[in-house]
Amino acid sequence: MKNLGILISGSGTNLQAIIDNIENGFIPAKISIVISNNPSAYGIKRVERKGIPVEVINHKDFSSREDFEKALIDCLEKHKVDYVILAGFMRVLTKFFINHYKDRILNIHPALLPSFPGVNAQKQAFDYGVKFSGCTVHFVTEKVDHGPIIIQAVVPVLQDDTPEKLQKRILEKEHIIFPLAIKMLVEEKLQISGNKVIWKVPVENMKDMYMINPYISF
Ligand code: GRF
Repeated sequence: MKNLGILISGSGTNLQAIIDNIENGFIPAKISIVISNNPSAYGIKRVERKGIPVEVINHKDFSSREDFEKALIDCLEKHKVDYVILAGFMRVLTKFFINHYKDRILNIHPALLPSFPGVNAQKQAFDYGVKFSGCTVHFVTEKVDHGPIIIQAVVPVLQDDTPEKLQKRILEKEHIIFPLAIKMLVEEKLQISGNKVIWKVPVENMKDMYMINPYISF
């Protein structure tokens, strides 16, 4: 059974979706540690009540990014983490951290990459006036929000939307595709080829996976 280390900064609804999908048997993995850089993140409460180990490592307590990342790595190593999952983790990681966990870090981004990388992606998409947006799970590489894409889901932008409504619609899809990507990751069914990710699953299964998302046709 693979060990996951989950990094959060905020409310932790994606973390909750991962917990739920481990509990219901969909993801065959264990969360060995959750780390928050933000001491008041609500996500901390979600894991405390489940008895999952959680640590606060506040970036503000460190004088350099590298020292902060060393502390993260020490903690992740202590808990024998195989894969690092960025679930709303709002710090940019440097190549020092990324090389340590090369091809073993996943991130979720609330837009259809490569459009709208960076912060406030939902509002960026809303302000731009796109008619569809969505979310992307990708491997983390040095260039922020540019790593190989694992899976995406699409949502419409509606006439009477606000950035908040769009954000909520996207978040619902995040909670579906992030567990899916993590399942494939821990089952070692993802193969990186250049900047592409190949799903090593039977075509029938791929159809089933996409079927759960009405905005993706196969
Ligand atoms: C999500 O929209 C995620 O895509 C982004 O930050 C948000 C985190 O939400 N990176 P939560 O903490 O999982 O509720």
